[in-house]
Amino acid sequence: MKMNKKKIRVLSGIRASHSSLHLGNLEGAIRGMIKLQNDPKYETFYMVADLHGITTPFNPEKLKRNRLEIAKDYLAAGIDPKKSVLFLQADVSEHVELAYYLSSAVRHNRVKQLPGKKEEYREHPERVSVALLNYPVLMAADILAYKAEIVPIGLDQEPHLDITREIARNMNLKYDLDFPEPQRFAVVAGDFTVPSILGGGKMSKTKKGSVINLSDSYEVIKQKVARIPTDIGKAKKIEKDTGAYALFLFVELFMGKPKKRKLERDYLSSKGIKYSEIKAELAKAIYKKLKPIQEKRRKYENDPKLVREILDKGAEKARKIAGETLNEVKEAMGLV
Ligand code: TRP
Repeated sequence: MKMNKKKIRVLSGIRASHSSLHLGNLEGAIRGMIKLQNDPKYETFYMVADLHGITTPFNPEKLKRNRLEIAKDYLAAGIDPKKSVLFLQADVSEHVELAYYLSSAVRHNRVKQLPGKKEEYREHPERVSVALLNYPVLMAADILAYKAEIVPIGLDQEPHLDITREIARNMNLKYDLDFPEPQRFAVVAGDFTVPSILGGGKMSKTKKGSVINLSDSYEVIKQKVARIPTDIGKAKKIEKDTGAYALFLFVELFMGKPKKRKLERDYLSSKGIKYSEIKAELAKAIYKKLKPIQEKRRKYENDPKLVREILDKGAEKARKIAGETLNEVKEAMGLV
């Protein structure tokens, strides 16, 4: 009899520091998660990273709420509990234990060098908890607990994955283990990110006013789209992070490439473009994508028991696999 080929494991997570996911999460990470979930080659594990929510100041009541809100967003956006193992990170305490073992295989100087964080670590050491320094190690544990090979996630997370790969290599060398070196799975080729609605840079929950939430109503979307910057100067150039650049990116994302090309041509020619019309069309296109997600979300909002059941089942499956890895590691390290 032919054996079933072993499936390639996939793991991803989103930090539970806010109560709602946004368009950047949807296009940058969740689309990729769904694509992999629907491909029988892969076995997919998706989690709400609530433990990462305590690495910076937080409010316990809010965290308690947010972790469930994010789980509902995942389900509404199309993570299917029949195909994916969906769970809350804190429900699988094996991650924390594994993170401790892994922390012995990485130097603190290395985690302090994390791009984007190292200035803060240097300039505001008083803000940096040991949990924050440990952020990439816990993330490595999330991934390595399942020996995941693929991580669908935004480009900004690549430095964290670099550390995960280093830890995997070190553990394998020191203890003769077989951790794979996980790779990022990009939904869209290249270094594409959903822009902030304020122009410069990416859409991010840490940048105030930059996001369109998955739960935003049509009215709110219209107001937010109206704020996307347009041309300011006379010089008509399409350059990254200036003028109408973000608007063109949004048009490409939600209305297609041909539409964007046409707009760019009009923009650069004497014809010019009418921002109010484009923005009205864009708001409509964005809402069209979010409407079915919002409708599906209602089902879960009205049935918290169902959500709890899905997460409990997910945690149970996750625990089994993470527990096996943990045993291997403890044994290899002389702790059994
Ligand atoms: N760092 C990720 C974020 O900021 C969240 C995360 C935690 C994660 N653990 C992970 C992502 C493991 C992928 C794999 O959203």
